[in-house]
Amino acid sequence: MSQFDITIATCRPLPEPDPDEAPLLDALAQAGLRARLCAWHDRTVDWSLSPLTIIRSTWNYYHDRAGFVDWAERVTTVSELQNSASVVRWNSHKGYLLELARRGVRVVPSELIEAGQAASLEAICAAHNWSHVVVKPAVSAGSFETHTMRAGALDTTTFARLMAERDVLVQPYIDAVDTYGERSLIVIDGELSHSVRKHPRFAGQHEQISGPHPITPAERAFSRQVLASFDEALLYARVDLVPDVDGQPMLTELELIEPSLFFRFSPEALARLVGAIESRLRARLAFLAQ
Ligand SMILES: Nc1ncnc2c1ncn2[C@@H]1O[C@H](COP(=O)(O)OP(=O)(O)O)[C@@H](O)[C@H]1O
Ligand SMILES: [Mg+2]
Repeated sequence: MSQFDITIATCRPLPEPDPDEAPLLDALAQAGLRARLCAWHDRTVDWSLSPLTIIRSTWNYYHDRAGFVDWAERVTTVSELQNSASVVRWNSHKGYLLELARRGVRVVPSELIEAGQAASLEAICAAHNWSHVVVKPAVSAGSFETHTMRAGALDTTTFARLMAERDVLVQPYIDAVDTYGERSLIVIDGELSHSVRKHPRFAGQHEQISGPHPITPAERAFSRQVLASFDEALLYARVDLVPDVDGQPMLTELELIEPSLFFRFSPEALARLVGAIESRLRARLAFLAQ
């Protein structure tokens, strides 16, 4: 028998507290599951000590994406990882937005500039007629190096510095972020659960959340469309969106690695997640017993 049922992957130090952590650990304990919390980058952890490993607050991974993807692949050889290592690889670079756009999903217009490529921010703004833009790393979380700039007052020094170091995305500034707000639709084990509003946040600012908010039929249909192309059952997903100029949902991010799930706005979501973890654990144990 394994020493633990579940390992929850986090990071140390946590860049900010994780309000989902205590409720999740409590709910797992109440379900009779032996869970432990381990930092993904802690080299002393034996990941084989639990049949299931759940990624949660691994919020520093963007500093070492290659190391994180490598960790996910290594864990997979000794424990079932949720969401999977292939999801981690795909979702850890915001280039996935362009891929989803090609598949017909309405996505915030995005220009991807690969590290070291020569690009002019003025030319990008002029080509798209963008007067207010957001510049951010393609591998990022928690608003790391996320900058807003206006045409005519572009911070080309910051742009050049970022571009030299990393892949960068340039997007038009979406005004609806300040009015309707950026919404996060939380999906647990394939079922849309609740919606929260995230208030605008740029580098160095704290996250502000309100909710739960009503989910419109268009948002519901959109979350189904975004997730339809996944052939594996995702344990959790978060569809972040804003309305476009026609009021239709438009994707800002699809968070499949370490999204906050905002259990404080939905105890039902937490119960559903624990139920899904229990059934995956049963399936894994049955598989290992074969
Ligand atoms: N195109 C945009 N228009 C308006 N605000 C944006 C835009 N892109 C990012 N932001 C703001 O920056 C925050 C962080 O950007 P996001 O793309 O969500 O990356 P991450 O959550 O991975 O840091 C968003 O929550 C939003 O407040
Ligand atoms: Mg975000």
